Amino acid sequence: MPLLAKFTQYLMHYFVVHQNKLLSLTQVAIREALSRVQPSNERTEQIMKKSSLFSFSALAAAAALALTGCAAETTTPSSTTAGSSTEESVEATAGRACVILPDADSGTRWEPGDRPALEKALTAAGYEADIQNAQSDTAKYATIGDQQLTKGCGVMLLVDYQGAGVSVAEKAKAQGVPVIAYDRPIAGADYYLSFDNEVVGAMQGQMIIDGLKAAGKDVTTASIIYSSGDPADGNAAMFLNGALSVLEAAGASPAFTMEGTWDGTKAGTLFEQAFTAVSGNVDAVLAPNDNNAASIIAILDKNGLTVPVSGQDASIAGLQNVLLGKQYGTVYKPFTIQAEAGAAMAITILSGGVPETNKTLADGTPFLALDPISVSAEQVKDVVANGDASVEELCTADVAAACEQYGIN
Ligand code: BGC
Repeated sequence: MPLLAKFTQYLMHYFVVHQNKLLSLTQVAIREALSRVQPSNERTEQIMKKSSLFSFSALAAAAALALTGCAAETTTPSSTTAGSSTEESVEATAGRACVILPDADSGTRWEPGDRPALEKALTAAGYEADIQNAQSDTAKYATIGDQQLTKGCGVMLLVDYQGAGVSVAEKAKAQGVPVIAYDRPIAGADYYLSFDNEVVGAMQGQMIIDGLKAAGKDVTTASIIYSSGDPADGNAAMFLNGALSVLEAAGASPAFTMEGTWDGTKAGTLFEQAFTAVSGNVDAVLAPNDNNAASIIAILDKNGLTVPVSGQDASIAGLQNVLLGKQYGTVYKPFTIQAEAGAAMAITILSGGVPETNKTLADGTPFLALDPISVSAEQVKDVVANGDASVEELCTADVAAACEQYGIN
C-alpha cells in the first residue's frame, strides 16, 4: 500500500479507536457532572446523544481531513511513522473485521455469496477482512474465534453454527470487541443483522398457497409436507413461524412434518421417508431454502411429480428450478445489501455511535431486519439485472427455453 494511503487508513483507524476512549471518558465526565446537579434521566440522555453526535461529526471531519490529505499528496509530510509497533497494534485492533462463516454446503450462499460480498464491503469501508469458514465444525469454529481474537479484531461479524457463536461472542466481548450476529442470532451479541426472517417464512407460506391455487387445489384439504431448517439455527424457527402464520390463516395443515435440517442430503432422505409415510400423496412441500428444495425436487422428479415447493436464497440452482416450474418461488436476500449493512454497522459501532435497528429479538438484542424479496419465475430477470445471477450460469441447456420464455437473455 502506498505510504500516503496507509497513513490515511491509519489516521481513520487511530481516530476511531481514540475517539471511542474519548467518547466514553466524555460520557463518564458528563454523567458525573450531571449527577452532582441532580439531572433528570431525560437530560442525561439528551446530552449523551449530543456527545455521540459530536463523535460522528468528529469522525466525518477526520475522514474529510484524510481525504484532503489524499488530494494534496505532494504536501503530505513524508515522515509518517507508519509501521511502528503502536500503529500496527492500533491497526490490528481497529482495522481488522473478523468474520466466521458456518459451512460451505448448507446453503449455496456462504462461500459463493457472502464471502465475496463481505470482502468487498469491509475492504471498501477500510477494514482488513479476515473471513474464515468453520466448515460445519463447532470445534473449528471455536479455534478460529480464538485465533482471530489473538491476532486482534476491531469488530467480529459471526454467522452462528449450531450455537458455537455464543462462546466466541463472549470471549470477544470480554476483550471489548463488539460483536454483530450476522444473519443468524447469537445470544449475547451486541447487534443482530439479518433479513426479516418472519417475513421470509411468510413469503414461503404464500408460495405454497399461490402454487396450490394455481394448480387448482383446495388449500384446506391439500396434502402438504412441512419441512424446516436446523433448529440449532435461531433463524429456522423464525422462518417456520412466518410460514405457519400464513398457512394456518389460509386453513392449511401439514400431512407430515419433517425434522428440521440445513443439510441438503439429509433433507432428501427425510423427504423420502415423508413421501413413503403419505403414500406418495404430495400436493406441495414447504421447504426452508433452495438447497433443501433441490434434494426434495430430485425425489419428486424420480417419482414423476411436479408440485409447488418453496425455497430461499435465490441460488443459481433454486432460480433454475423456479424457471423450470419445479419450485414455485424463492426468497431473494441480496448478499451485497446485507454485507454493506454489516460494514456500515461495524463503522458506526467503532465510531461510538448507535447503529440503526428496527426490531428487537426476544432476548433484547437490537435487530436490523432488512427486506427480503419474493421471486417467482417472472422476477428471476430482476435478480439477473441486479447482478446476483448471470445468464451464463442460469440458462444452461435444459433451462435455455425457460430463460427465453421469462425474458432472460
Ligand atoms: C440463512 C439462509 C440459509 C440457511 C442455511 C440460514 O440461517 O438465513 O439464507 O439458506 O441458513 O445455510
